[in-house]
Amino acid sequence: MNTMADRLIEAMTKSAARQYGKERVTELAHALQCAELAAGAGGDEEMVLACLLHDVGRYAVAQEEISDTLEAGAPRATKARRHHEAGADLIAPYVPERVTFLVRAHADAKRYLCAADPGYYDTLSPGSKHTLALQGGIMTADEAVSVATQPWWPDALRLRRWDDEAKIVGKATRPLSTWGPLLRKYFADSR
Ligand SMILES: [Fe+2]
Repeated sequence: MNTMADRLIEAMTKSAARQYGKERVTELAHALQCAELAAGAGGDEEMVLACLLHDVGRYAVAQEEISDTLEAGAPRATKARRHHEAGADLIAPYVPERVTFLVRAHADAKRYLCAADPGYYDTLSPGSKHTLALQGGIMTADEAVSVATQPWWPDALRLRRWDDEAKIVGKATRPLSTWGPLLRKYFADSR
């Protein structure tokens, strides 16, 4: 029987043929760049894993279940979930709670940084500004104060900064196979 690691590796391999939202890189290139940035900055294993898989809800979950790829105003299925929530739910049985938190938080981290860092919004790509609105828009001050009390929030912001940077066309990274042992460590069975 295929393990969850097999499923993820297959989905990530296929994501090399999928554009990352409105960006000019593929979903796989984006994931690999994000993981590489975390590893290069000395991120721990859980952080690197979270960076590698932060968009797993885009490419390893049936797209009928995802709502945030729809244009604003498009009808949404009532059970549709946002990609960060779908991804977090998918990996939750396999990974430490912190990894799940970081995957789930990566859209809110953008909403937070738009409220807390005056120059941040202007650094976002047009595609990321577009999805910001679909993800709930800029946080209110009260909301920002509340989320920042979460113990892993600083890690969520680090992931978010790498997520934003991991969109460079043609940037060299190590291949997906580099992360095979890491994926097989956490996703060794098929729950
Ligand atoms: Fe991303």
